[in-house]
Amino acid sequence: MTQPSSPTHRPSIAIVGLGGIGGAAAGLLARTGRYDVTACVRRSLDRLFVEGPDGVFDVPLRSFTDPAAVKPVDWVLLCTKTHETDSAGAWLRRLCTASTTVAALQNGIDHQERIAPFVNGATIVPVLVYYNGERLAQDRVRYKPVSANELVTTEDAGGKAFADLMQPTPLHVLTSADFVTLKWRKLLINAAANPMTALTLQRQAVLRRPDIYALCLEVLAEAAKVGRAEGAALTDDEPERIMNSLMTFSPELGTSMYFDRLAGKPFEVEALTGAIVAAGKRHGIATPVNAVLLTLLRAISEENAKVAR
Ligand SMILES: NC(=O)c1ccc[n+]([C@@H]2O[C@H](COP(=O)([O-])OP(=O)(O)OC[C@H]3O[C@@H](n4cnc5c(N)ncnc54)[C@H](OP(=O)(O)O)[C@@H]3O)[C@@H](O)[C@H]2O)c1
Repeated sequence: MTQPSSPTHRPSIAIVGLGGIGGAAAGLLARTGRYDVTACVRRSLDRLFVEGPDGVFDVPLRSFTDPAAVKPVDWVLLCTKTHETDSAGAWLRRLCTASTTVAALQNGIDHQERIAPFVNGATIVPVLVYYNGERLAQDRVRYKPVSANELVTTEDAGGKAFADLMQPTPLHVLTSADFVTLKWRKLLINAAANPMTALTLQRQAVLRRPDIYALCLEVLAEAAKVGRAEGAALTDDEPERIMNSLMTFSPELGTSMYFDRLAGKPFEVEALTGAIVAAGKRHGIATPVNAVLLTLLRAISEENAKVAR
C-alpha cells in the first residue's frame, strides 16, 4: 500500500454498511474522483445512483461481498446500524491496521467502546449524522440535508482528518471541542422520539399528544441528569428545548426505530435508551422511566432479531 504521505497517494476508503447514510457518503466520495472507494456489502453492485438536493447522479462503485477478499485501507466509514456492528466485525478485522482510521457514522454515545474490539488498534473517529438517508434499492439511495452541518465530530487530529476527507463533498463536517455535549443532545432527541414512535407505531405526530409529550419530558429529564454526570453541558431546561426542537419536525416523519419495527427488524435499543440506563447505573442515577421503555423495546427488538435469523 502506498504511504498516505506520498504526493501521488490516492487514499483508499471502504464503506461498511451501504444503507441510507453509507450509500450517500460512498456516492459523494466516489464522485470526487480523488479516492479509491469500495463498498463492503451483502449483495454486490457495480454502480450506485444517488438522489440529492441537486438531482441524481451515478458513479461506478467496486463492491465486495466476502470479507476474505478485502485488504487493509486508509479509511473505513462504518455506517451499519449500531446493533449490526458485531456482524460487521469480519469486515473491520480485514480492513483495519493501526494505520487505518475508522469513522463511525452511527447513532449513540459509545462509538469507541463499540468498535474498538474489531479494528486492530485503528484510530476511531465518532461521527454524529445530521442528514436523512434512505436506501431506495440495492443500487440507489436518497439523501436530504437537514442542518447546516451534515456531520459532527471531535476537534482532535482524527476529527480534523475526517473533515479534510469529506471536504471535497457537499457533506459539511463540524469539528467540536465539546463533542460530549453534542452527542448527548443528539442522544436526547433520539431517546424521546424513537421509543415513543416505535412503541405506539405512530409517526412523530404522537409526540404532540399532551400525555406522550409529558412522558417525553420525564424521559429527557432522567437522560439529561445522566448526561450531565457524563460531562455534557446540558442546561436545566434541556428537556423543554429538545421537545421544542422536536415540535419543529413534520408530524408525518417517522424514526428509524419506527421504520425498523414496521419492517419487523431489530432496532437500536441498546445504543439509545440502553445507553442512558447503563450510564445512569455507572453514576448511581435512577432512570426508572427509561428502564421501563428499555424492557419493552428489548422485548420487541430481540423477538424481531430471532424471527429475522
Ligand atoms: N438514515 C438516517 O437518516 C439517519 C440519520 C441519522 C443517523 N442515522 C444513523 O446512521 C447509522 C446508519 O443508519 P442507516 O439509516 O444508513 O441504516 P440502514 O439504511 O439500515 O443501513 C445499514 C446498512 O448496513 C448494512 N449491513 C449491516 N450489517 C452488515 C454486514 N455485516 N455486512 C455488510 N453490510 C451490513 C445493511 O445491509 P443490508 O441492506 O444487506 O441489510 C444496510 O444496508 C445508524 O446508526 C443510524 O441510527 C441514520
